Amino acid sequence: MTRPGKVHLVGAGPGDPDLLTVKAERLIRAADVVVYDRLVGEGVLGLIPAGTMRVFVGKESGHHILPQERINDLLLSLARAGRQVVRLKGGDPYIFGRGGEEALFLVRHGVAVEVVPGVSAASGIGALAGIPLTHRGLASSVRFVTGHARENGRLDLDWQGLADPDCTLVIYMGLTTAPTIAAQLIAAGRPAATPVALIENGTTEAERRIIATLADLPQAIERHGLKPPTLILIGKVVGLAAELGAAEDGPAADAVKHG
Ligand SMILES: C[S@@+](CC[C@H](N)C(=O)[O-])C[C@H]1O[C@@H](n2cnc3c(N)ncnc32)[C@H](O)[C@@H]1O
Repeated sequence: MTRPGKVHLVGAGPGDPDLLTVKAERLIRAADVVVYDRLVGEGVLGLIPAGTMRVFVGKESGHHILPQERINDLLLSLARAGRQVVRLKGGDPYIFGRGGEEALFLVRHGVAVEVVPGVSAASGIGALAGIPLTHRGLASSVRFVTGHARENGRLDLDWQGLADPDCTLVIYMGLTTAPTIAAQLIAAGRPAATPVALIENGTTEAERRIIATLADLPQAIERHGLKPPTLILIGKVVGLAAELGAAEDGPAADAVKHG
């Protein structure tokens, strides 16, 4: 009898392999097959042993090489064939990664699933950029928000709630809708001078950090030609990056640009 397969939904962190969990690394080294997305960093992929089968499914902000249904079917057939599958997903599998959908599909088809949390872009990138997501006196809460619009192009967010000046906003997938986000937040009362950090390819060699203001957010994206993956952090805590981000001595520390 074939031994039962299993799918490990593993968070790969934001890019830097040093941000992987010990468990993620152990599972990557022991897997029969690794199925991974575009957002998984090169350094993490470098940990996959040479003889391990790897399948790229190329998902990033809705651009799929394989549609989600085909990814689900692939994971199911690999598990049913008795494989130990590592499904590597950028950041944390349960934060804007459709990890919940994959887990539900597999569990409903009788496949054992284990989820291994990862460092999400918000905390990994915030930490390296010198931006504490909460900070006494500056931010008493933080919200992770998707900037990905619905199929009808609408971005239905709770603008009034998001305008709270004591709440840090971390916008995932927000480059395209940044003009709407900035305009709606300002209209709802968030000060136009609120500092904003835009971080492209965070925690990797290619990282770029741009500091702007809410009013200038769309222009800053244009001016610097920012591309996905970029994380947008909005709030008073971004003002700490000048002091705390400089403490980092990596190449990115020299590359911070204003506006
Ligand atoms: C589909 S979401 C996946 C989020 C992921 N599950 C996580 O927990 O970080 C993809 C978005 O996350 C953000 N992101 C993920 N990794 C990033 C990185 N290394 N640098 C900048 N943004 C990143 C970007 O906003 C990107 O468009």
